[in-house]
Amino acid sequence: MAEVDVRNGDRVIVFDTTLRDGEQSPGATLTADEKLEVADALAGLGVDVMEAGFPAASPGDFEAVRSIAARVKGVTVAGLARCNQADIERAAHAVRSAESPRIHTFIATSDIHLRHKLRLSREQVLDRVSAMVAFAKGFTSDVEFSAEDATRSDWDYLVEVFGRAVAAGATTINVPDTVGYTTPGEYTALIRHLQANVPGIEHVVVSVHCHNDLGMATANTLAAVAAGARQVEVTVNGIGERAGNTALEEVVMALATRRDVFGGAETGIRKERLVPASRLVSSLTGLQVQANKAIVGANAFAHEAGIHQDGMLKERTTYEIMNPTDVGWEGTKLVLGKHSGRAGFRNTLNEIGLRLDDAQLQEAYSRFLVLADRKKHVTAADLVALVSDQLAGEDDVLQLSRWNASLGSAGPASASVVVTRGEEELIGDGQGNGPVDAFFAAIDAAVGIACELEYYQVEAVTPGEDAQGRVSVRVRVGDGVYTGHGLATDVVEASARAYLAALSKVEQGRNATVAAA
Ligand code: KIV
Ligand code: ZN
Repeated sequence: MAEVDVRNGDRVIVFDTTLRDGEQSPGATLTADEKLEVADALAGLGVDVMEAGFPAASPGDFEAVRSIAARVKGVTVAGLARCNQADIERAAHAVRSAESPRIHTFIATSDIHLRHKLRLSREQVLDRVSAMVAFAKGFTSDVEFSAEDATRSDWDYLVEVFGRAVAAGATTINVPDTVGYTTPGEYTALIRHLQANVPGIEHVVVSVHCHNDLGMATANTLAAVAAGARQVEVTVNGIGERAGNTALEEVVMALATRRDVFGGAETGIRKERLVPASRLVSSLTGLQVQANKAIVGANAFAHEAGIHQDGMLKERTTYEIMNPTDVGWEGTKLVLGKHSGRAGFRNTLNEIGLRLDDAQLQEAYSRFLVLADRKKHVTAADLVALVSDQLAGEDDVLQLSRWNASLGSAGPASASVVVTRGEEELIGDGQGNGPVDAFFAAIDAAVGIACELEYYQVEAVTPGEDAQGRVSVRVRVGDGVYTGHGLATDVVEASARAYLAALSKVEQGRNATVAAA
């Protein structure tokens, strides 16, 4: 590991972009209410800066940033803007009521982007940087400038670009690895080159923003911190464009666990909220966390091999470098069966941090009994999925009441459904290319909403043949995009539930607009 540079002090600023770059993950679109829920969780987690969205992307994005800015306290709220007046004005307007507003403006600097995307010369980009950073400063003193595709840009040109941004008043300069191309050694050298050559860089915060295309986002981010960068741009669970962004939980725990290596550099994150925040983001976006994901994956603290279990029983630290309870995991491995009883069920929910009121608990218990009939062992992951699904569906106007689907080798699959909308029963029949397609056609016939299915994904909540399936869908109606998630041990039923959840949003006008950065 390279020698550690602590010239900017020990405190590393955590800039969370779950609601902007994270929300750009395929299939992860959130509604306005869901964004507020995530914003509250991020504030509780202790992030320093929250990038709430890209206000110029759509009216929905603008409104989400505006309401988050007005609501969260004790956190800087950033709005993203391209380097043009219209975007910057829009971002300024959206973050205006934040306690601490930030405009984050960016323009690409690599020749490949200049030539093919922007069709601007290097000189024109330099002028744009000076003018637009100065323009942004007219709205707020806190301005971040990013050189998109910095790691594929000419280093001496980058020095000029960042020099212009600093001279125009940027308070943070960000060096994105937009396409996940760099390596730890190369990134370290780039940060050092900038620190040595950009005039005035010692007066601003150097920030890093990495994508995970080659699986090195966390390693690159940490290398940059060791080289003196003092802001890390991250997302919960590492969600984001393509292979995702740097995972917040990984950087936070690497810095906390290896203080010896990182010269004591630390964040202000409340670590015991990492797992709850991960669960919330996963359940709202429908993007499941892989079981072996560091820190927040279901197996991150599970010990299978006999030798490991033996070591653990003798002394936990033989095989654990972090304490699972420090990052918000329940201490024990939880397994419930149908004989566990209501009290055991309630205790288990409490242990994994799920608090429900009496009515919700009753409903969750009924669902648990149905699940326990179909599945031998109900795990913590099952309960989290079950309760998230229940809570997410509470406001849905359309509920699946009864259904039937048939499939054979001769002819198309057919399905019939009964959907309730309040007191009303809606009945529909449909045929399709397989049971899910037939089910969707039957729902279309029952509900009468014309939509286009844009995205469909099935994942298992836990391993095993009797696992619950979680389905995520995204549908388009005109310009509106709506997501829905559904859970059941039967994937056909889970698909129908997800589809109805999305159509409920259409009915209720709970529009989730598309982010477009
Ligand atoms: O990856 C990237 O370059 C970005 C910028 C807008 C910071 O997300
Ligand atoms: Zn990015």
